[in-house]
Amino acid sequence: MVVAAGSGVRLGAGVPKALREVGGRALVAHAVSRLVAGGCTHVVVVARPELFAAFATALADCPVPWACAPGGAERQDSVANGLAEAVRLAPRAQVVLVHDAARPFVPAAVVARVVERVRGGAAAVVPTIRVSDTIRVADPTDGAHVDRSRLRAVQTPQGFDLPTLIRAHAHIRRTGLPVTDDATACEAIGIPVALVDGDREAFKVTDPFDLLVAEALWSRTGER
Ligand code: CTP
Ligand code: MG
Repeated sequence: MVVAAGSGVRLGAGVPKALREVGGRALVAHAVSRLVAGGCTHVVVVARPELFAAFATALADCPVPWACAPGGAERQDSVANGLAEAVRLAPRAQVVLVHDAARPFVPAAVVARVVERVRGGAAAVVPTIRVSDTIRVADPTDGAHVDRSRLRAVQTPQGFDLPTLIRAHAHIRRTGLPVTDDATACEAIGIPVALVDGDREAFKVTDPFDLLVAEALWSRTGER
């Protein structure tokens, strides 16, 4: 599943973020081809319904069966809608990956690592990277020092046993618990989260600086 129903406020500039092009190709199309290269067999793209036609154009060369689902107010609502569509599109699926369209250049090896770990029995898997900056709590009365070696930044795609993720989303919908990622939703129902190595190239395009980085990465690899 690729969630692409955000409004891209921090990136700005007219075009919806997932449809912004790098190397003549929409970010969502880059993301989908990385997921397919990493082993995904079906794709659900969650987007605003008025943009479904534009997404269909951007994904015209998608090599696997795919479908759109309507986005929701928050990311977790978008994921819940995508899960309903995933079950329709691939009724026998056991593993689901949830990926941000805003991470177009995730290496296929990261995708494959996540899939492999779920297949190996972990019900919730996240790719993470070490933090390279020294981190400090903004409020100095709140114990300013943070031990960086204990921290990891969380990326996507996150991978799940599909029935477990459906159960986790039903739980957060029922309880109104706010979560910013799907692994946290699983933790809320007592599922342990396994970590695998992410990659800096799986960075999230959030603001105009990140788009410059994406362009630079593209011109280095130039692959499709
Ligand atoms: N997303 C979504 N539905 C929402 C909110 C976010 O599908 N209601 C998706 C975005 O499209 C994006 C991913 O979640 O691929 C991560 O969100 P973020 O990077 O915050 O993107 P936006 O919400 O689009 O950007 P911004 O917060 O700057 O508006
Ligand atoms: Mg957002």
